[in-house]
Amino acid sequence: MADVKTTICGIDFPNPVWTAAGPGGADAQMLLRAARGGAGGLVAKTISLEGARVPFPNIISPFSGSLLNAELWSEHGYLHFIGRELPKVREAGIPVIASVGYSAEELALLGKELDRAGAVDAVEFSIHYVGKEPENLKRLASALKDNVGVPVLAKLSPAVTDLEAVVRILEDVIDGFVAINSVGPALDFDIETRQPLLGSEDGRGWLSGGAILPVALHYVEAIASLTDKPVIGVGGVRRVEDVVKHLMAGASAVQVCSLAVLKGQEVYGKLAADLSKWLDSHGFRTVREIVGLYRKERREPVQAEARLFPQIDEELCNLCLLCERSCIHQAIHFEDKEFHLDRTRCLSCGLCCSLCPKVALSLVPEKS
Ligand SMILES: Cc1cc2nc3c(=O)[nH]c(=O)nc-3n(C[C@H](O)[C@H](O)[C@H](O)COP(=O)(O)O)c2cc1C
Repeated sequence: MADVKTTICGIDFPNPVWTAAGPGGADAQMLLRAARGGAGGLVAKTISLEGARVPFPNIISPFSGSLLNAELWSEHGYLHFIGRELPKVREAGIPVIASVGYSAEELALLGKELDRAGAVDAVEFSIHYVGKEPENLKRLASALKDNVGVPVLAKLSPAVTDLEAVVRILEDVIDGFVAINSVGPALDFDIETRQPLLGSEDGRGWLSGGAILPVALHYVEAIASLTDKPVIGVGGVRRVEDVVKHLMAGASAVQVCSLAVLKGQEVYGKLAADLSKWLDSHGFRTVREIVGLYRKERREPVQAEARLFPQIDEELCNLCLLCERSCIHQAIHFEDKEFHLDRTRCLSCGLCCSLCPKVALSLVPEKS
């Protein structure tokens, strides 16, 4: 069996699939359940000085595999969480990471309290509600770092636009990055009642789950290409292939939130076991071997000498006609079960190849 153990910031994790700050890390009961479900690391829900007063309802599923949430941060006050919940989580016997927010004063105080309690192996701080201005983020990171003895991770939001400036300024202070938080603001509402589906003041919330995977991969890959500090990927994991993508994009470990909300806390162990199998079946012996592989192996895009056109492998085609229906350029049609391509209409967009359930279509250079 391939080895999925990982060491990040000097901390040993039995596998790289962790909980993410959120409902799965709300209290000791949830975190211990995640540990029983096979998580390799336990990230608790974000705590702040005051417990959050969350609106209702605050989690909906706008479409399959994704969530829209208006939860804020932990409903528990920090004294209760650090004094009562975190010590019980130690029983899990795997690394525990606290998540804290938001102002410099809060981070300093929470850092001190966590350090005093000695209840965590690392601390993650969320920039979700504090803007994206690099100097300010550095001030926040320093406030936490100066007050804890354990490694500090900065969890970035997809709202960060000047990623390079943020990574450069933070990497001098912190020990690693986590990317990304949920995406938004985002809105959904009932067309009959014209009322929002979430109970937040402006009806808006934050999107997570499958829909945000490509956004998360963009951030993970971009951060990993800017720094040697470890990056923890989070966002959009639905199955083992998504974990592999995060790792290949440059993540050293992967956090999972929405999938566990939707499918239960056993998903961590299932993903970790599937990761080991995936590595075996692809000839890798350790998880480390695939970290950053996308960046290492990606070729510069070459301008094809000839135009690329979809070509069908008739042995694989099951005649579902999805390519014909979805060809917005109307270049594909089937006649007597035979694939025909009108090259004067085809724009080589590649969508047919991407949609084909049998992988029967591929873009190949035009024959000269
Ligand atoms: C209901 C809910 C609550 C969340 N609470 C927090 C939180 O307290 N702190 C935080 O940093 N991220 C929080 N997140 C964001 C997740 O940790 C994660 O970054 C995001 O959901 C993307 O991962 P996913 O696609 O696997 O869900 C929350 C997400 C959801 C869905």
